[in-house]
Amino acid sequence: MNKDKLNVAVLVSGGGTNLQALIDAQTNGIIKSGKITLVVSNKPDVFALQRAKNHGIKNIVIDKKQLGGQAPFETELLQVLQENYVDVIVLAGFMSILTENVIKKYNKRIINVHPSLIPSFCGMGYYGLKVHEKALEKGVKVTGATVHFVNEIADDGEIIMQKAVNINKNDTPETLQLRVMKNAEWKILPRSLEKVCKNILKNKEN
Ligand code: GRF
Repeated sequence: MNKDKLNVAVLVSGGGTNLQALIDAQTNGIIKSGKITLVVSNKPDVFALQRAKNHGIKNIVIDKKQLGGQAPFETELLQVLQENYVDVIVLAGFMSILTENVIKKYNKRIINVHPSLIPSFCGMGYYGLKVHEKALEKGVKVTGATVHFVNEIADDGEIIMQKAVNINKNDTPETLQLRVMKNAEWKILPRSLEKVCKNILKNKEN
């Protein structure tokens, strides 16, 4: 492989604040070993697509609901990833669990950001605000975010980076979610992407 940057696809389902953090990190030179060349949404009309457009990044909707489920979604996704020569995939606020059909083809090349310190508050059913509701219910004093490689089990793959965030006495799930995103997710996701891309490039040279 003679490239100096890997092609990165970002998979989204919503507002795309994590996508924005990745785009900003690319502009600021934090991400040097990869380039976001594609954004794929599993839902139409989400703001993440607009963010991609604003930055001239190719964006595609693969409407899981319209296609009738996960299997046809993944068939089309694999085709799109291949056609676009994607090397690394980032799940950024992507609300769908990929099966081994995709994971096997991109082993150690798919990363995800989860809004807790894994192994706390993770796995099936822990997504979005629910993660923060559970952390507050339990009364933990510290939470955070984790970036990990994706395997067949939800939030189970090898951990790449974690960052802790203190919980305040008056936190609501909403205030906590925002602070975890700002202070942890938006920081460690771009850094992790750079680390993963850099490693892949380094290993290819040897
Ligand atoms: C939030 O639930 C965040 O904690 C999780 O993804 C959601 C943000 O989505 N990791 P987006 O990146 O703004 O689309």
